[in-house]
Amino acid sequence: MDLNNEFTGAVAFVTGAGSGIGRETALLFAKRGAIVACVDLDADRCMDTVAAIREAGGEAAGIVADLSRPEDCERAVDDCLNQFGRIDHAFNNAGITGSHEEPFDLIRVEQTIAVDLLGVIYCMKHQVAVMEKQGGGTIINTASIAGLSGNVGALDYTAAKHGVVGLTGSAARKYGPSGIRINAVCPGIIRTAMTRALDRDADELRAIFNRLSPITGKPGEPADIAEAVLFLSSSRAKFIHGVALPIDGGFTI
Ligand SMILES: NC(=O)c1ccc[n+]([C@@H]2O[C@H](COP(=O)([O-])OP(=O)(O)OC[C@H]3O[C@@H](n4cnc5c(N)ncnc54)[C@H](O)[C@@H]3O)[C@@H](O)[C@H]2O)c1
Repeated sequence: MDLNNEFTGAVAFVTGAGSGIGRETALLFAKRGAIVACVDLDADRCMDTVAAIREAGGEAAGIVADLSRPEDCERAVDDCLNQFGRIDHAFNNAGITGSHEEPFDLIRVEQTIAVDLLGVIYCMKHQVAVMEKQGGGTIINTASIAGLSGNVGALDYTAAKHGVVGLTGSAARKYGPSGIRINAVCPGIIRTAMTRALDRDADELRAIFNRLSPITGKPGEPADIAEAVLFLSSSRAKFIHGVALPIDGGFTI
């Protein structure tokens, strides 16, 4: 099956596109033919992803937004619509880690919930309105294995990611009849800026990864998540709706 043109003519809206999982997914959407709205708080990294897509012959625009702010989420969706006229596939992925050291530092807690959960809700509010008018679309939200278990992740991060899983199921029930297919991905440990600290203490970490990812004995790569997002966004997954898919090398076995 030739996947290269699977998304030709479609518009993808990818948040957190400046780094890690979001960047890899934006690049893969573009490689498979989509026009990509790359949304990120960090203007330089956002435009770097846009440049990489254009250099490879794809079409993309950068939208700088702080997705913890409802008005920025609305503006980002409007901006994509103004430039490209539609949103076929949304990937709500931008996120930050919580604080292990200060679990009840309320400023940190509010920040984590604002980016990791409320940002997804604010974006979905406007994406759903667009997709209802269009007659359909797909939305993938990035949760985490911390959205499925209390064993990993900081307190606020775990709460936010459980929220994303619940939100995804509830929204799938409500908006499925409008032709909007909604799912979540739950990455395990993936090698990105977010987990860079894990590169230290290699031997000790190898033992942990062996336990976390029995299939590989090492962390996953952003491409492992991007491939799953593209599949879930495609018509090949047309009967998959409302799931929270672990992509974790077996951690949640
Ligand atoms: N890396 C992992 O091991 C892992 C595991 C499970 C879940 N996740 C989730 O995957 C998603 C992507 O993480 P990653 O590992 O690629 O991290 P990353 O740090 O490499 O990328 C996150 C991106 O989100 C952007 N961002 C942060 N706050 C923002 C805001 N307020 N508005 C707009 N953009 C903002 C950052 O600028 C950055 O470009 C996150 O939701 C994260 O919780 C990651």
